[in-house]
Amino acid sequence: MIRSVVRGFGAALPERVVTNRDMEKIVETSDEWIVQRTGIRQRYIAGEGETTASLGEQAARAALDNAGLTAADIDLIICATSTPDNTFPATAVNIQNRLGMHHGFAFDMQAVCSGFVYAVTTADSYIRGGLAKRVLIIGAETFSRILDWTDRTTCVLFGDGAGALILEAAEGEGTSQDRGVLTASLRSDGAHKDKLYVDGGPSSTGTVGQLRMEGREVFKYAVGMITDVIQAAFDTTGTTADDLDWLVPHQANRRIIEGSAKKLGIAPEKVVITVDLHGNTSAASIPLAIAAAAGDGRIKKGDLVMLEAMGGGFTWGAVLLRW
Ligand code: UT7
Repeated sequence: MIRSVVRGFGAALPERVVTNRDMEKIVETSDEWIVQRTGIRQRYIAGEGETTASLGEQAARAALDNAGLTAADIDLIICATSTPDNTFPATAVNIQNRLGMHHGFAFDMQAVCSGFVYAVTTADSYIRGGLAKRVLIIGAETFSRILDWTDRTTCVLFGDGAGALILEAAEGEGTSQDRGVLTASLRSDGAHKDKLYVDGGPSSTGTVGQLRMEGREVFKYAVGMITDVIQAAFDTTGTTADDLDWLVPHQANRRIIEGSAKKLGIAPEKVVITVDLHGNTSAASIPLAIAAAAGDGRIKKGDLVMLEAMGGGFTWGAVLLRW
């Protein structure tokens, strides 16, 4: 059977680092509160000229270099983002053009913090369905541009950045020993749409709007939803927490990540954490974490890797792959 195997990865971050101490000068908060409640110590914030598309392009170029490929080798670009440069056209098309790629096709995926997990699943479906051979998947965000910088309950949590992954078609045996995407488990429930949302949009207010979140409400659901989809991925493939080499979670809150791992019996040393450095970069957080852990040699060929995310919608999901 056809499997979607990882060929390359890359990341890009804005130049400017904003520490918790810097945040203390913007809103009534403290380094101690932010670290204790979230694990975040700093975040990167896009400056003039840095946009979702420019960061996405940088991450894409890094992934192509890592894979030893050029844009000519890619058939499809999927960009997971909730902070596009324009309402339309898609940021993926913008990046396609920046890469000098004028063949194939490109589109955006909007599932907020779960966007990257949804995009990997979509790419895998296109590859297995024979519609694409090599897919460039990008998670790119500039959440700083939709934050209310007077609201301490949200502005301290998010950051900007981009990450990319290239998947390509390869033959597999159909077992959990295959390399590539082994299974995915996706969920959403719009009943929770008002717990984490942006209070504007083209069709409702004609404005961009700002992010609003009932953090405690999101927190309440997070661990249960995350562990459900991870367990489903284990069950479908007949694998267990002991077989897993790496959990690469969406980086929203260290307490949610550690609580989910503990509930599933995943050892803490198998969990990739970057929330301290990047804050919550929504759809970019998983590919940024992948680039960190694969870049420094922790994630190796043949490792069993679980990606998971939960966010606005609510949307949530997990992808199990063998590196
Ligand atoms: O990526 C999408 C998914 N999003 C998430 O996963 C976020 C989920 N939620 C969370 O991570 C947590 O709920 C937060 C980090 C947002 C908040 O942590 P919490 O432990 O749930 O705190 P809380 O909202 O219950 O607030 C506790 C206190 C409140 O004061 P009172 O009412 O107890 O007097 C807040 O006003 O902390 C106060 N507070 C702050 N204090 C200092 C809220 N924000 C801040 C702040 N600095 N930045």
